[in-house]
Amino acid sequence: MARVIAIANQKGGVGKTTTAVNLGASLAASEQHTLIIDSDPQGNATSALGFAKDPARRTLYQALILGEPIERVTIDAQIDRLDLIPSDKNLVGAAVELISMENREYRLREAIQPLRDKYEYILIDCPPSLDILTVNALAASDSIMVPVQCEFLALEGVSELLDTLARLRRAINPSLAIEGILLTMYDDRTTLSKQVAADLRSFFGAQVFESVIPRNVRLAEAPSHGMPVMFYDIHSKGAESYIQLAKEVIVNAQKRVGPGTERTDQGSGTTGTSAAAAAAGSSGAGSSSDGGSAGPGTE
Ligand SMILES: Nc1ncnc2c1ncn2[C@@H]1O[C@H](COP(=O)(O)OP(=O)(O)OP(=O)(O)O)[C@@H](O)[C@H]1O
Ligand SMILES: [Mg+2]
Repeated sequence: MARVIAIANQKGGVGKTTTAVNLGASLAASEQHTLIIDSDPQGNATSALGFAKDPARRTLYQALILGEPIERVTIDAQIDRLDLIPSDKNLVGAAVELISMENREYRLREAIQPLRDKYEYILIDCPPSLDILTVNALAASDSIMVPVQCEFLALEGVSELLDTLARLRRAINPSLAIEGILLTMYDDRTTLSKQVAADLRSFFGAQVFESVIPRNVRLAEAPSHGMPVMFYDIHSKGAESYIQLAKEVIVNAQKRVGPGTERTDQGSGTTGTSAAAAAAGSSGAGSSSDGGSAGPGTE
């Protein structure tokens, strides 16, 4: 049964697509059947995987709006064990058309139902907004991964996002867990990066992934070559960091299904955060107290 993870942050340019593509490739390399769903009309994940614009190609649009079977829009990403549901600018129309449709928040959830048995991981690359496409992604997901750029005001941004999430979660998907907060574009030569990382860790505790994605030029170059960084420069820090992240995601999943265990907060940080981290494994954590999202705000 696939774990469906929405990669979301309404802030633009924080590394959502880079994470979807490179975590996806790294999970596939770790023997996990993985599907990347490009749910952003910008189509950046689609092009980063080497698919040039092609008006004839079926995209998520056909499945979401026209009700075509999801298998018909799913393509082989030309990497072992990695598939893609592509996107293109037509998806802008989907965002508009969805508004007047019945069951509009749950179209994606219904559409991907038949795929849940086929993959170990389904990653959804969201657009930089909390529009109806992102709402569909969050309604369809087991958890949300939030990439955060290590920069000024990052803490405020994440806190706001988690507050919004708490509301969304109550309204559309009470069992949505926090997969983790991912520090991206980390530059260990700057005091600011270090400070931001330390602040986020002390505030959100074990909800922050141990793996950190460094600012790395290879990560920025790889998309223009149409390939994940591990095929572009396997020895780069960028490739290493996403392989590390994939391991962490897999280990966390194993902990959740382990005998009576769930992912627990390791002590640091706030009390509320463990509830969200564990929400996937324990019932009711999310609905009774807003899960972890409410935690940081209550301190
Ligand atoms: N760790 C990194 N090091 C260097 N460059 C990076 C890194 N992560 C992302 N980038 C670059 O930063 C830009 C924004 O990254 P990306 O497209 O992944 O962000 P995004 O959150 O998906 O953006 P959007 O909100 O527009 O969808 C891209 O040019 C990408 O190549
Ligand atoms: Mg993007």
